[in-house]
Amino acid sequence: MEVILNWKQNGSFAIIEEFVKNVKTKNENVSLLLPFPYIAFAQNLCLTSKAKIKIGAQNVSQFQNGAYTGEVGVEMLAELKVKECLVGHSERRSLFFEDDLSVKSKVELLTQKGITPILCVGETHEERTSKSFFEKLKKQMVSYNEKCIIAYEPVWSIGTGITPTSAEILEISNFIYENWGNKILYGGSVNESNFESIIKIKNIRGVLVGGASLFVEKVNLMLNLC
Ligand code: PGA
Repeated sequence: MEVILNWKQNGSFAIIEEFVKNVKTKNENVSLLLPFPYIAFAQNLCLTSKAKIKIGAQNVSQFQNGAYTGEVGVEMLAELKVKECLVGHSERRSLFFEDDLSVKSKVELLTQKGITPILCVGETHEERTSKSFFEKLKKQMVSYNEKCIIAYEPVWSIGTGITPTSAEILEISNFIYENWGNKILYGGSVNESNFESIIKIKNIRGVLVGGASLFVEKVNLMLNLC
């Protein structure tokens, strides 16, 4: 079971140190996705402590090197030996205007460098109620290649405390598996209370946890259930 922790724009050296010291990992499939300035620091911490955590990134530039002020490129992530990177998170899509083409470019650049893209897809509340979510997912999946891990994250569930029913998640996991032959991560308000029922759903390879991942005691409760 893969457990991917997305800290978004949170953390500090002290907070990361505390987290790595207290997290109890039993398997090798825990990843912590951090803001760029903390990646090397956290990697060193994990090397010197017994924490079996992979450190990953939350975003990458859609371009190779060049005049793209403020961006961080795939070669830089490769130099850091980052193995996984989120792409197309709904916050990137809605707040920073990323579209399926730029997400596709990121997926291709990462793949060329041997970094696994974690491709986030998911419908809005309106698309869920109007039953157009399969069309939305198909559209977003133009960015996909077979090296991707797919994270299904319904936008209406992220940070809201509302999760789809198991039947709704199953419907999506079956749809993705039948069409792209890939098991999904589920993301959106995953916490220590709903973790167990979510990981039991067919064709789920793991979870992507946002808010709850900032609390080491909640993370330990979840990891204990793997
Ligand atoms: P959440 O975020 O767990 O806080 O809903 C998930 C995510 O954005 O990846």
